[in-house]
Amino acid sequence: MKIADLKIPGNILLAPMSNVTNLPFRLMCRQYGASLTYSEMISADAVIYENKKTINRGISCEDERPLGIQIFGNSPEIMTTAALRIEEVYRPEIIDVNFGCPAKLLTKDGCGSALLKSPELIHEIVKELSDNLSTPVTAKIRILPDMDKTLEIAHLIESAGATAITVHGRTRQQQYSGKADHDYVRKIKQELSIPVIANGDIMDEISAQQTLEYTDCDAIMIGRAAMGNPFLFKRISHYLGTGEMLEYEECSQRVADIREYFGLLEEYELMHTVHIKAQAQWFTRGMRNGRHIRKSIDTAANIEEILQSLDEMCKHVE
Ligand SMILES: Cc1cc2nc3c(=O)[nH]c(=O)nc-3n(C[C@H](O)[C@H](O)[C@H](O)COP(=O)(O)O)c2cc1C
Repeated sequence: MKIADLKIPGNILLAPMSNVTNLPFRLMCRQYGASLTYSEMISADAVIYENKKTINRGISCEDERPLGIQIFGNSPEIMTTAALRIEEVYRPEIIDVNFGCPAKLLTKDGCGSALLKSPELIHEIVKELSDNLSTPVTAKIRILPDMDKTLEIAHLIESAGATAITVHGRTRQQQYSGKADHDYVRKIKQELSIPVIANGDIMDEISAQQTLEYTDCDAIMIGRAAMGNPFLFKRISHYLGTGEMLEYEECSQRVADIREYFGLLEEYELMHTVHIKAQAQWFTRGMRNGRHIRKSIDTAANIEEILQSLDEMCKHVE
């Protein structure tokens, strides 16, 4: 897939996820085959006020290219000022705009999915950014209950200069309930000329292939199923490339991944930014012996103890 002049080496993308897609996690997803990774969303206001947490969110490294940095806001001018600063400091390959987040924290200020009620403002934001940045601008939306209104927004985003659009096939009201509606993605793909990225409920090899085939989209983007499971990118890439399921040892793979993840958090001095036990629970989600694992993580005194008990468990599983 190409976004503007940028060649993306594949079609499986990691979704931006607040408090999840930090640099160590993104690096692991890339290593396992994610073709493009995005930062957690960054507030345009916070960039301007140089908020420390925000600065961490933009940190990247040369191994993580191409990188998308996602911003949110509601003012074309402030967002452009913030994006120009991001462009200068972090040099991402893509700047993505969040028009999808349903969290009150954003919508109460008219940001994220609240903007879907103001198509003209969406157009203005994307145009102002596209006209002023040298970095390609992309947008990520949720759908509206009405297909025509959703299509209108997608067209406005394209005509304002966006170089790609990601569509999460759920409405703002749905939050994460129900099923993502890929008919919307399919229709948007039929009507637009820019690349269209399908997002929502891609959980495994089969749903990845079905979504690509059904929507005819240019790429798929994976969110929740990748949390604590960066290896999913390897499984899906392998399946799409060969038609065969990748064989691997689940327990030892998960433990190796969690060890690497904690190692990278140390290396990039980001350990203090995460809730260690919650992250350990994500990395062990879906493993056999789940109840036992959850309990041992809860009672562990430190990371080494968590890793030791997981190692111990693998000996019995494999
Ligand atoms: C914990 C969490 C944090 C998220 N943070 C963001 C975000 O910062 N920006 C964004 O555009 N979407 C965010 N999302 C939405 C995801 O990018 C994605 O659109 C959504 O989870 C649907 O994809 P999935 O079914 O593969 O999870 C977040 C989702 C989750 C679960």
